[in-house]
Amino acid sequence: MSKVKLNLIAAACDNMGIGINGTLPWRLKNEMAYFTSMTSTAKDKSKQNAVIMGRVTWDCIPPKYKPLANRINVVLTRNVDDVKKKVPEGVEVVPDLDEAIKLIEGRSDIEGAWVIGGSSIYKAAMDHPNCDKIYLTEIQKTFECDTFFPEFDRNKFQLVTEDGVISEKQSENGIDYYTRVYKKC
Ligand SMILES: NC(=O)c1ccc[n+]([C@@H]2O[C@H](COP(=O)([O-])OP(=O)(O)OC[C@H]3O[C@@H](n4cnc5c(N)ncnc54)[C@H](OP(=O)(O)O)[C@@H]3O)[C@@H](O)[C@H]2O)c1
Repeated sequence: MSKVKLNLIAAACDNMGIGINGTLPWRLKNEMAYFTSMTSTAKDKSKQNAVIMGRVTWDCIPPKYKPLANRINVVLTRNVDDVKKKVPEGVEVVPDLDEAIKLIEGRSDIEGAWVIGGSSIYKAAMDHPNCDKIYLTEIQKTFECDTFFPEFDRNKFQLVTEDGVISEKQSENGIDYYTRVYKKC
């Protein structure tokens, strides 16, 4: 059993907002495609990645897109029995992040683990010893938000470049953003 690394992936605007009223405050098609590509791509084609999310994020995914395709969906909730009854077969429901990690490490068909939100799940993941990187899309505009990406210690996470991740400014619908990668030191 190998120790799984946790990678966080999020898009946040200038005020670190990530969501409003159970949805995303912006519509960025290419950024969404980046999320899909990063979380879906496994080097070993016989394996898939896991996406770990809070129950509210699960609820926020439009029905036609869930479970997120080609990934093992793992939902965190304090009401495991209730939520288990509501999710499709194959979706894993666990009571906390350590249980999610245990489950992933116990399955030989899972390659990597992506933490996809929301706030408290990001916080638990960035504080976890298994945390490796934060893939943060930094949107250069302020949107009204009610959910925020947690503050992280920039001394503990170092900005790095990575093959396959565009480091130059990108633009979509008149909105500028950077896809940045921070590695835990
Ligand atoms: N921009 C982005 O990258 C991004 C990414 C993800 C989400 N979002 C947005 O963020 C919002 C949703 O995020 P959110 O922060 O409100 O909710 P969330 O983190 O997705 O879900 C919160 C729920 O997760 C469960 N939970 C939280 N901490 C837990 C723990 N330690 N152990 C077990 N279960 C735990 C609880 O579920 P129970 O209540 O069932 O117990 C809690 O109510 C939406 O607006 C969504 O669109 C944005």
